[in-house]
Amino acid sequence: MISPSHIAIIMDGNGRWGLKKYNDRNKGHYYGLLNINKVIEHCIKIKIKYLTLYTFSTENWNRPKKEIDYLFFLFKFFYKKNFNKLNKNNIKIKFIGDLKNIPKDLKIIIKKIEDKTKNNDAITVIFAFNYGAKSELVNAFKNIIKNKTKVYEINEELINNYLYTNNIPDPDILIRTGGEKRLSNFLLWQLSYAELFFINKNWPDFNFFDLKKVIKAFGVTKRKFGGLNE
Ligand code: IPE
Ligand code: IPE
Ligand code: MG
Repeated sequence: MISPSHIAIIMDGNGRWGLKKYNDRNKGHYYGLLNINKVIEHCIKIKIKYLTLYTFSTENWNRPKKEIDYLFFLFKFFYKKNFNKLNKNNIKIKFIGDLKNIPKDLKIIIKKIEDKTKNNDAITVIFAFNYGAKSELVNAFKNIIKNKTKVYEINEELINNYLYTNNIPDPDILIRTGGEKRLSNFLLWQLSYAELFFINKNWPDFNFFDLKKVIKAFGVTKRKFGGLNE
């Protein structure tokens, strides 16, 4: 059995869940947020070292302002409410994404959390926030050129170093809840050899048993990386 060190999750289906249960998409976002804490605890229990969560994509700006405002409110609420507990549980928090269009108060909170938890080591939880893989690559290429990099210096390792995820190993597993089978601009470079799991449950309903099932299926996967696995 092999075990994963890094799990990435596209936490999809909140809106559908909220609509169905409360006739309110935002209720789905609220319960989805509560589920994040539980999933972090499960991941610590089974010794996952990195957990990356897709919380807001660069394309999610296409949603109605009312929903975007609520999502931003929720992120602030989550970080404020949970910061002490996360820190006490030795959890390191990191953010990946474009912080340029993020309101200043939220940016300050993000920097503070990253700084205060930087020496924790039970698990690293990475929030992909205003994240888009294509925008990440554009940003990397711009910086590569700004630093006057020579053509012969460009290789995979150098590009890795310019991504938001530098120093973080690529995910072993990608989970997407909500039933859709697509990547929605999430970690396109980093997921190149991840094992993909699409779950027919909305994010607020995703639980420890679902996670264990994924880990079990991953455990017996033959990862070949292009070789013959002999
Ligand atoms: C994912 O749930 C959460 C975010 C994008 C913030 P959705 O809001 O996309 O839920 P569905 O897919 O519409 O049900
Ligand atoms: C992906 O879900 C983004 C997050 C979970 C944050 P979306 O619901 O935005 O993706 P699409 O629109 O179905 O591709
Ligand atoms: Mg969705």
